[in-house]
Amino acid sequence: MTPPPPLGVFDSGVGGLSVLAELRRALPGQDLLYLADTAHVPYGARPDDEIRALTERAVAALHAQGAGAVVVACNTASAFSLTHLRERFDMPIIGLVPAVKPAVQATRSGVVGVLATPGTLRGTLLADVIREWAEPAGVQVLRAVSTELVPLVEAGKADHVETRAVLREVLTPLAQAGADQLVLGCTHYPFLAASLRAEFGDTFALLDSGAAVARHTRRVLDAAGLLAPDTTAGTVRYFVTGDPARAAPVFAALLAETMHNGEEPHRAP
Ligand code: SIN
Repeated sequence: MTPPPPLGVFDSGVGGLSVLAELRRALPGQDLLYLADTAHVPYGARPDDEIRALTERAVAALHAQGAGAVVVACNTASAFSLTHLRERFDMPIIGLVPAVKPAVQATRSGVVGVLATPGTLRGTLLADVIREWAEPAGVQVLRAVSTELVPLVEAGKADHVETRAVLREVLTPLAQAGADQLVLGCTHYPFLAASLRAEFGDTFALLDSGAAVARHTRRVLDAAGLLAPDTTAGTVRYFVTGDPARAAPVFAALLAETMHNGEEPHRAP
């Protein structure tokens, strides 16, 4: 029997590794191709049509490498590209939506924070989930924006004094307003957990969409007949559009926090 095609996982950079870890837990038999557009990260402050074009190019590269489905493991790319990608590619495309629903369900104060890039805050996906979950429950959603956090994570400074200073500046108003849940609206941000804890202790419960999207991906692949059996361990190959030697130390450090199989990133073909 022919094995199912690999699952492509795309992010502007290393943030999608937080989603990759969840995908490996939920899909232990699936071969995975991870593509980081390190030549163009960060996407967060780019215009909508440029984000869409870069994402389409990355998904086309994964498709050319044999991916049978793609997870867009980047909130900013998902915010502008999902409909466009689904029109262009005849394969399942799965995106990331900020974890507003569980935050609304868990809040005791009735105030929830969302930390995201300008792109994600501008896109319609966030507005849709706020309208669907927060507004009917009467929960107030406070937005915090940063263009600095993604480059800091890409530079290997997820747990660093500079990063903690940015978090203090952008999140103190949310803490003062009583937010008790913080939606990490960018896949880079789960790597900020140590800095967030150092700065804010238990003020916020931290929520991301990684585990939920991994469970959803398993259901989608199963329904499409693309799910690999769990009996043999799947492989992971990493590709970057920038310099692989520059990316390797940050990949190794972040993969060590999740699940490293010793693979190094290669230049995307
Ligand atoms: C970025 O590249 O600026 C953001 C990535 C994300 O939103 O997940």
